[in-house]
This record gives sequence, C-alpha cells and structure tokens, in this order.
Amino acid sequence: MSTTAPDPAITAVIGAREVPVHLGPGAIDLIGPLLAARGEGDGAMVVVDDGITSAGERAAASCREAGLRVHVEAVPAGEASKTLSEVERLSRACARAGIRRRDAVVAVGGGVVGDLAGFLAASYQRGVRLVQAPTTLLAMVDSSLGGKTGVDLPEGKNYVGAVYQPEAVVMDTRVLGTLPPRELSCGFAEVVKYGLLVGGELLESVAAWPDLPGPDDELAELIRRCAECKLEVVAEDEFDLGRRAILNLGHTAGHGIEAAGGYDLYHHGEAISLGLLVALRVSEHALGLDPAWRDRTAATLARHGLPVGLDPSVDVDEVIEIMSRDKKSDGRALNMVLLRAPGDVLTHQDPDPAVVRAAVEELLA
Ligand SMILES: NC(=O)c1ccc[n+]([C@@H]2O[C@H](COP(=O)([O-])OP(=O)(O)OC[C@H]3O[C@@H](n4cnc5c(N)ncnc54)[C@H](O)[C@@H]3O)[C@@H](O)[C@H]2O)c1
Ligand SMILES: [Zn+2]
Repeated sequence: MSTTAPDPAITAVIGAREVPVHLGPGAIDLIGPLLAARGEGDGAMVVVDDGITSAGERAAASCREAGLRVHVEAVPAGEASKTLSEVERLSRACARAGIRRRDAVVAVGGGVVGDLAGFLAASYQRGVRLVQAPTTLLAMVDSSLGGKTGVDLPEGKNYVGAVYQPEAVVMDTRVLGTLPPRELSCGFAEVVKYGLLVGGELLESVAAWPDLPGPDDELAELIRRCAECKLEVVAEDEFDLGRRAILNLGHTAGHGIEAAGGYDLYHHGEAISLGLLVALRVSEHALGLDPAWRDRTAATLARHGLPVGLDPSVDVDEVIEIMSRDKKSDGRALNMVLLRAPGDVLTHQDPDPAVVRAAVEELLA
C-alpha cells in the first residue's frame, strides 16, 4: 500500500507539522494515494456534506482504490450541523466502523463539514489523522487552512473546538463548478480581503477578476496565492496569539453586521464585504489610507454580486454594540484591523467610536 504522492502546490510548516496543499482539477482523486503513501492506518471515514455527495463518492473511491477500508457519513448541509450532537453521532459511526488512531477522517465539503469533521478528527480517540477536502471557495481560501476546527453552541458560534492541523489539504477546483453563485461570491469576499492584506499584484488580479468563477487555471492560481497568504500568517502564529489577527480584516464590523442581521439576512462573505468597506473608511481617518482604495474595493465587490450598502432593517446601534463586545476585543473599546495602504496592515487598532459609527451609517446611504 505505498503509492508516490505528487508534489504539493504549497507546503506549509505549522508548528512541528508539514501541511501539504494539493490544488487543481481532479485533485480529489489524490486523497486515497496520499493516505496510503503514509503507510499508517488502513481505514478512512469520509464525512461529506449531503449537498455534494458526488465529491464524497470520488474521495471514497480514491481511498478504496488505494486499498483502504472506507466508510462514508453524510452530514445535512448547513450551519445547523455544526453541533456537539453531530460530533457524537459521527464519533459513534467511527467507533462502529472500527476507525482507530492511525486511521483518517476525510472532510469533504465547505467550512461547515471542515470545521465539524476537523473537530471529530481532533477529538475521536484523542485525535486521528485528518484530510481536508474543501469544496467551497471560502473553504479553499480560508476555513480548510490553519487548523481551526469546532462546532457551535446555542450560546455562540465556534464555542467548542480545537486547533488541529490536517496531514493534507486537497482542493479540487473542478468541484467549484457546481457551487451556487451566491456561495462563490461569498468566498470572493475573502479573496478581496487577501488582496488588501497582500496588496501589489494579488490585489491587481483581484480587482481585474472576470465573472466568477473565472478561467480554471487562473482560479487555481488565485486560490493558491490566497492560501499561501493565510498559511504564512498561520505558520507564524498557529494559536492566534498575535499576527494571525490580521486575517480579521473586515471581520469586526462584518461580524457585527452578520449578527445584527440574525445570521440570515447576510451570509458570512456578504457581511465581510460590508465589513471591509467599514474597515477601509476607518483606515482613512485613523491611518491616512487613500480614499480611492475604498471606492475601488466597493466596485470590485459590487461587480461580483456582493453588497456594498446596508439593508435598512439592520440596526446600526446593534452593530456597534456587537462590535464592541467582540470576543477578540481583549479589553479595548473596539479592536479593528486597519490598513495604512494595501499590504501595510496594523492589528489591535482602537479607532474613534464616532468614526466607526459614521462608517457603518454611511453604508445605509
Ligand atoms: N475554521 C476556520 O478557520 C473557518 C474560517 C472561516 C469560516 N469557517 C466556518 O465555515 C463555515 C462556512 O463555510 P462555507 O461558506 O463553506 O459554507 P458551507 O459549508 O455551509 O457550504 C455552503 C453551501 O454550499 C454547498 N456546497 C458546498 N460545496 C459545494 C459544491 N462544490 N457544489 C455545490 N454546493 C456546494 C453546501 O451544501 C452548503 O449548502 C462556517 O461554519 C464558518 O464558521 C471556519
Ligand atoms: Zn471570514
């Protein structure tokens, strides 16, 4: 059972672990060979979003062909599946299937399945091997990378979890072909965030991006550059104690808007679209960012179907209130990531609350 694994598109070193990222059309077929190449356990539990079972079948088939014992568990699509009871159900399915410590969990789906199955892998028998196979643009550029896993409680999102690195991340860009346009746009909001964090050529390609998803090879390259940005930051700060905070650009206001909309009015990426615009406006006041960047960013976001104006039903007071009790605010009145220029980022900024309020209110105009 030993097959040679192809060279990964990226190899990140996170803590003591190398995390290879395989990326491209058909990459999902590598899962079996990658697992078998390690010559460790011979079992795999494929956890798949029930909205994309064909990708789960592909992953399972590749494991079977590589000589592994394979079990498949489908998870109902949607955030409502990120629960401890689902972790229990899947853990018991693993136990019944005879999954042991050296076997693997393979997460096939968007961020919901990635977070849920990632936490399953982190906790079942105190940790089994994990492969992340993200199937949404958001999961490819963000949630499958960096090792954050977990589930929600009624009291809060992602309240129970673990930092647990996968032994491989496998991104099959072909699966994005079935992703609904709204989900593609949501992932693109995070891509715009990376463009602003990195600046330069990446921001230029983001600003010039054609209709989503765009040409296959260029999309794979765009995902690779975003993934590389995230992994570089995570490699410096796996446990989110410092620099990793830069990844929250647009997320303080974004979370406020997402929560004030009842997690229903806006999907995460849409709230981040608005949050980025708030962060850029505040950056102008606090750090002298050129206002042209906000206009250009708004044009890019709008062109890809992302909101650039706030629905009048959203209560600005509530947005500000949620922003100021953000769980990452570590004692400051507000805790925002701001830019002096694209690529020049400052974390833990505590801007004038009146400026922040005006930047949110402006979205109503
Ligand atoms: N761990 C992290 O670092 C991190 C970072 C960001 C977000 N997240 C989490 O990610 C989750 C959101 O992830 P998401 O946006 O990927 O949402 P998701 O997993 O809910 O997927 C969105 C929808 O797309 C469908 N889908 C997935 N892949 C598809 C495909 N290829 N074709 C057709 N349909 C497909 C799913 O069935 C679902 O309905 C949230 O729970 C969030 O908390 C985690
Ligand atoms: Zn996000």
